[in-house]
Amino acid sequence: MFIELLQQRRSIRQFKSTAITPEQLAQLSEALLRAPTSRGRNPWHFVIVDDPQLLTQLSKAKAHGAEFLAKAPLAVAICAEPAVSDVWVEDCAIAAIILQLTAESLGLGSCWAQMRLRSDANGRSAEENVCEILNLPEAWSVDCIIGIGQPSQRPAGHPRASLPDGKIHRNRQPK
Ligand SMILES: Cc1cc2nc3c(=O)[nH]c(=O)nc-3n(C[C@H](O)[C@H](O)[C@H](O)COP(=O)(O)O)c2cc1C
Repeated sequence: MFIELLQQRRSIRQFKSTAITPEQLAQLSEALLRAPTSRGRNPWHFVIVDDPQLLTQLSKAKAHGAEFLAKAPLAVAICAEPAVSDVWVEDCAIAAIILQLTAESLGLGSCWAQMRLRSDANGRSAEENVCEILNLPEAWSVDCIIGIGQPSQRPAGHPRASLPDGKIHRNRQPK
């Protein structure tokens, strides 16, 4: 059941050193390419990174919150050509969460590292850093990087009672 996948999902930032298998990578790649996009324009590009040196460099692309990429066996940079679609950010976000949930369904763990609108310790754009590290074409932008691997710990899913039910609204809101 899909809801069970969501009930157990948590962000995972610590991984075993076990490599992602070719079968797992094939499924993750297929999932990415099945992500829906506005007008079917597919503005995205997905860069699979498993080179430890590149992963270490990516972990420093922004000031905080990407450190976990250094020890992830795999990362996927979710990029797009903004000229192809005005809603590339939404398309990238959908592909990213589909990737994360597919990883979860395969028994893997993952975490999102935001790059768009973030900067490094010197105030330089994290996106520019990623483009340089991965030698991406100038026409591409970077939304985020998803780190993936075998979880070294599995935190429990959020209990049902902890969910913010007050965020669900119905019909017209009172003034
Ligand atoms: C748009 C977005 C950006 C995020 N950026 C980061 C990030 O840069 N670094 C990080 O460690 N986690 C990041 N996360 C993961 C969140 O911190 C995490 O989902 C949130 O704290 C809830 O925890 P949970 O996923 O375990 O339920 C991001 C998540 C989203 C959806």
